[in-house]
Amino acid sequence: MKKLIVALTIIFTFPAFAQQKQKISTADQKMNTFISQLLSKMTLDEKIGQLNLLTGGEATTGSVMSTDVESKIKKGQVGGMFSFTTPQKIRKAQEIAINQTRLKIPIIFGQDVIHGYKTTFPIPLGLSCTWDMSLIEKTARIAAIEASADGLNWTFSPMVDISRDPRWGRISEGSGEDPYLGSKIARAMVKGFQGDDLSKYNTIMACVKHFALYGAAEGGRDYNTTDMSLDRMYNDYLPPYKAAVDAGAGSVMVSFNDINGVPATANKWLLTDVLRRQWGFNGFVVSDYTGVNELIDHGLGDLKTVSALALNAGVEMDMVGEGFLTTLKKSVQEGKVKESQVTNACRLILQAKYKLGLFDDPFRYCDEERAKTEILKPEHLALAREAAAQSFVLLKNEKQTLPLKKKGTIALIGPLANSGPNMPGTWSVNSDLNNTLSLLEGMKATLGNEVKILHSLGSNLIDDAEYQQRATMFGRDIQRDNRPEEEVVKEAVNLAKKADVIVAALGESSEMSGESSSRTNLEIPAVQQRLLKALLKTGKPVVLVLFTGRPLVLNWEHENVPAILNVWFGGTETGKAITDVLFGDVNPSGKLTTTFPQNVGQIPLYYAHKNTGRPLEEGKWFSKFRSNYLDVSNEPLYPFGYGLSYTSFVYSDMKLSRTSFKPGETITASITLKNTGTVAGKEVVQLYIRDLVGSSTRPVKELKGFQKISLNPGEHKTINFSISAEDLKFYNSDLKFLAEPGDFNLYIGGNSRDLNMLKFTLTK
Ligand code: BGC
Repeated sequence: MKKLIVALTIIFTFPAFAQQKQKISTADQKMNTFISQLLSKMTLDEKIGQLNLLTGGEATTGSVMSTDVESKIKKGQVGGMFSFTTPQKIRKAQEIAINQTRLKIPIIFGQDVIHGYKTTFPIPLGLSCTWDMSLIEKTARIAAIEASADGLNWTFSPMVDISRDPRWGRISEGSGEDPYLGSKIARAMVKGFQGDDLSKYNTIMACVKHFALYGAAEGGRDYNTTDMSLDRMYNDYLPPYKAAVDAGAGSVMVSFNDINGVPATANKWLLTDVLRRQWGFNGFVVSDYTGVNELIDHGLGDLKTVSALALNAGVEMDMVGEGFLTTLKKSVQEGKVKESQVTNACRLILQAKYKLGLFDDPFRYCDEERAKTEILKPEHLALAREAAAQSFVLLKNEKQTLPLKKKGTIALIGPLANSGPNMPGTWSVNSDLNNTLSLLEGMKATLGNEVKILHSLGSNLIDDAEYQQRATMFGRDIQRDNRPEEEVVKEAVNLAKKADVIVAALGESSEMSGESSSRTNLEIPAVQQRLLKALLKTGKPVVLVLFTGRPLVLNWEHENVPAILNVWFGGTETGKAITDVLFGDVNPSGKLTTTFPQNVGQIPLYYAHKNTGRPLEEGKWFSKFRSNYLDVSNEPLYPFGYGLSYTSFVYSDMKLSRTSFKPGETITASITLKNTGTVAGKEVVQLYIRDLVGSSTRPVKELKGFQKISLNPGEHKTINFSISAEDLKFYNSDLKFLAEPGDFNLYIGGNSRDLNMLKFTLTK
């Protein structure tokens, strides 16, 4: 009877479960029976203990640290741990859970495995610029292999927050501004981490984050408030989270911020109505770092109140703050929380452990041999080098300044030229910072003796020493030269004069983006700009190798520097990969996944904006009483989808198989792409649509397809895209997902600005 009540409570609490009840598999039945039996033996304290996630303290992102972890494990007060690695250490902790607790429930071990593990791939924003789903999936697969070899079975990734605000430092951790591309990447990442069987020794559970709308924090200031219409939410910001959930992500992490008046951690509408009921999510939800406790500062009450709020809203696991551990029992006794709610939460966490195979073998991920042989394997590093090279975006290349010739003398100058620890990029807590090659070291290791490399610092990262310190935390040091600026610049200029070409390695340090690294000035720091000007004055060709974790404002650089290669932060193999591209062994093919504005005042600036009732006339940049600025055009500096190559591509002969079709039918759009240059290259062919008349306003363009095509010089290919009513669906004002009959523009081209267009009609 007790079991029946538990089962019914679950069904009624989560109707999504009720739907799934129909098609429950034998394996799931077996799991449910096992977990129900276990739950029936658990005390309330033991259940609450499972909801507690503590940090092992190796890498943390908040001021609070977990204490007395070992004694808490013994007391059955730890469901999960993170920031704690190696099979040896994890085995020890797991042994305590298995041998010294009453019910022997294994612990789940997590970590922020964001863009690779020890083999580090480009930061996610960079990786997204590859537009290569199979490559992205492979990076997540390798991350899972290495992390699981080091004892882990859970990653706090993928981060799928759409962001249209480059002031926000965490834009570096996501896949840019577009929901269509973001959803594809979310799926690829989940597949890569989880494979097709979570219980395998080399797959790990994904955790899609930060649910939801974290990337829309006001003013780009981290952890700040978000206030958003349902139209924007459902059409633009929620799709990647949903895609990750649909792909089977085993867990979801809640965002820190206030969403339309209720912080996500206490937002029942978001966590229960949307995530559970509308989307049928059946994994577990974890708070962010001390997210539950932070509800106190949000102004929702004391720790007991906010812990009850969070649990009742749909948070199952409490990260670090121990609000659940210390107050939920009291709340149950006072009738503020139902015990069944605690039981449900515990069930979902136990299910995750079951799916990971931990009840079969709690030490499944503690294989010391694997830790020795499966981390930093040559093929992992080879993929890291390839992924990095594919992520770079060539922003400008006047008079074929690039590629460089493998001969003569190069002056490699700038604060990012010789800083290995900055190459992995933000959120690479598992990287071996001290053994990552800098650009200078990567060049030396890659190039033969035909190229002479001269090197000089040229300038500090930032003039203000304290700001530089804030921007180089967590061991990401950059050498500082305390001599007068003129002396440092002069030394670099004198060196540059001896070279045939200058490579200026400038931009942001890796910690100028990422968590709690918002900026209001998005230019290259002034002291570096002054260095760049001095280098240009030598009259030598200058290549700007730009390190950044976000879109920067580059008007001056675009006007004055002949070649700009945006390299983001490329991971372990950055130094070698940049050399590959600078010297033409790899032809750059990355395309931007976020708009680069002309100035900060234009933000938010994104290609899929609405038209307004007073749009600017085509070809004009200002008209009185039109939607524009007095001082700058509405255009970005570099649009979404933009990126150059060492070769050139020509689009021609765009066709549609039919100009009208009805739901259930498809049409084919085709275009011919020719490589008209002299080297082989890759082009990301992009398809956009515009829904011309809708029951609610529709964006001026929406990405609906893309293909990455390789062509040899002179070669051409016809590229086909098939379009159905499915591709035209959107959430209307009643939040119904549908395609409305009517006229559409269809565009194909190499970026969101320079496009070929045809028209079609969707009939009833
Ligand atoms: C971040 C999360 C991260 C967590 C654990 C938080 O500060 O927002 O993205 O997963 O720390 O390290």
